Amino acid sequence: GQSVITLNNRVDIPALGFGVWQMENLEECEKAVVKAIEVGYRMIDTAAIYQNETAVGKAIKNSGINREELFVTSKLWVQDHGYEKAKSAFQRTLNRLQLDYLDMYLIHWPFGDFLGSWKAMEELYREGKIKAIGVCNFTIEKLEELKSHSTVSPVINQVELHPIFQQKELRAYNKENNIVTQPWSPLGNGNAELLDNPLLKKIAFNHNKSIAQVILRWHLQEGFCVIPKSVTPSRIEQNFNVFDFELTENEMNMIRSLDTNKRLFFDPKDPAWEEKMLNAVADI
Ligand code: A2P
Repeated sequence: GQSVITLNNRVDIPALGFGVWQMENLEECEKAVVKAIEVGYRMIDTAAIYQNETAVGKAIKNSGINREELFVTSKLWVQDHGYEKAKSAFQRTLNRLQLDYLDMYLIHWPFGDFLGSWKAMEELYREGKIKAIGVCNFTIEKLEELKSHSTVSPVINQVELHPIFQQKELRAYNKENNIVTQPWSPLGNGNAELLDNPLLKKIAFNHNKSIAQVILRWHLQEGFCVIPKSVTPSRIEQNFNVFDFELTENEMNMIRSLDTNKRLFFDPKDPAWEEKMLNAVADI
């Protein structure tokens, strides 16, 4: 069955959850979340900028599962940074999700007045409106900046991480600071080279599993909190079916050797990306 990770504030989070980035089609998103809950996922990871919180909320409402059994995460968008804006953005997120609290709320990118946002999030956390607060895409430098201006430590740092880009340095920092590493795009966003890798194919064959399942197993055994995305019912089910086998230390090491230290996506240290995000118009 499922396994859980205990966060630094003693809140438990399912080790495997359902990611909904790149589900712009709301009907498709709602169906996918319904399916995910049906096959056993209890953690859902969305964000204001994904513009599908309403679909996620509908799926949760219609799932028949008690709210307390679900772990729902959303994220504060760059345009909503700052103390006041963060508070109202959080309320809009709750409204769209039809919820009265969030299990986890994350800063999506460490740009703009994220320290003001964090202050608002700390208050909402103390009021019980958010059970755990954390960050995404934070570099060591930004984590250090946050640490020296805050009273609550983030529980999670969600960053791009998959066998092609394993983030060894950042992971070590997270661990030293009791911050759980949460990979986004754990399957490399469906990267064909990764999902067709001969070494992974061999390992998958040995366990009678798919390459995607082997990658997810690798994440879990590394101690990560993993959130694969799929809109395909058979894959949604397949990705959850990773608790009945174990990779050997030798197999873990073989997968560790696939690291190229090259991202597939946005670099949080790239000033052009920061500039673009700060100026992006998002009506959320
Ligand atoms: P789809 O949603 O069409 O099923 P990531 O979570 O790393 O961003 O990866 C998501 C991408 O990987 C999506 O394109 C998704 O396709 C694809 N994907 C998800 N699960 C599997 C799987 N078990 N096998 C192959 N591709 C998958």
